[in-house]
Amino acid sequence: MRKQIAAANWKMNLTYQQGEALLDEILADGIQLAEHQLAIFAVPYPYLLMTRSEVEHENNFSVAAQNCHHKKSGAYTGEISAEMLHSLGVPYCVIGHSERREYFAESNSMLAEKVNICLENYITPIFCCGEPLEIREAGTQNDFVAEQLKESLFHLPAEKVKDIIIAYEPIWAIGTGKTASTAQAQEMHAHLRSIIAGKYGSSIADQVSILYGGSVKAGNAAELFASPDVDGGLVGGASLVPADFIAIIRALK
Ligand code: PGA
Repeated sequence: MRKQIAAANWKMNLTYQQGEALLDEILADGIQLAEHQLAIFAVPYPYLLMTRSEVEHENNFSVAAQNCHHKKSGAYTGEISAEMLHSLGVPYCVIGHSERREYFAESNSMLAEKVNICLENYITPIFCCGEPLEIREAGTQNDFVAEQLKESLFHLPAEKVKDIIIAYEPIWAIGTGKTASTAQAQEMHAHLRSIIAGKYGSSIADQVSILYGGSVKAGNAAELFASPDVDGGLVGGASLVPADFIAIIRALK
């Protein structure tokens, strides 16, 4: 079975102490993850080492950065490179979250560079895609997300693509309390998998974990994750509440 993943995206929330307390509470629950399950915390940069040391004795709990710069190194004041993340022992990085695309003008081609630099530094990208409301209303969401994948991922060889984690996050569902229906999520995930299969073949596509993001909550996670092509979730708001994120981890297939 491909990996089933609950990924927390804290965004720019929580102080260091609040983050530490949140992790303590989640880990104190003693959840035992199966071999094919994974829980990842995408935390602010200054909390990466603390988070890594909190999870390092837990099976299948891990840590992610929320972004990295697309260049190797240099005069980019205030930025963080993939090499720096690797030097901290960070194995995952969220790439192309819609908030980065929207507020920091990250284009599909820049995201292709970010994916490359992560892979060069042994970091698995959690690559986000998803359409805005007007695209959904126009009914062209399938082409829109296909383009995002093609422009940012399809230059990669098959052996790299199979390990990338994809997060489908319809922008109209992020932080809005409006979740895609289980049918909408499954339909899009199956579409994403078929695009990957079209390019790389179905044995590769079947290995790629595709997470759903956008108002995943304790109350809807099990139903969303039960869909055959939904391999877990990327969770913002509900990942800040210990009991909610615990329930979401427990809802993994
Ligand atoms: P949300 O955020 O769960 O608060 O909708 C999801 C995300 O942006 O990753």
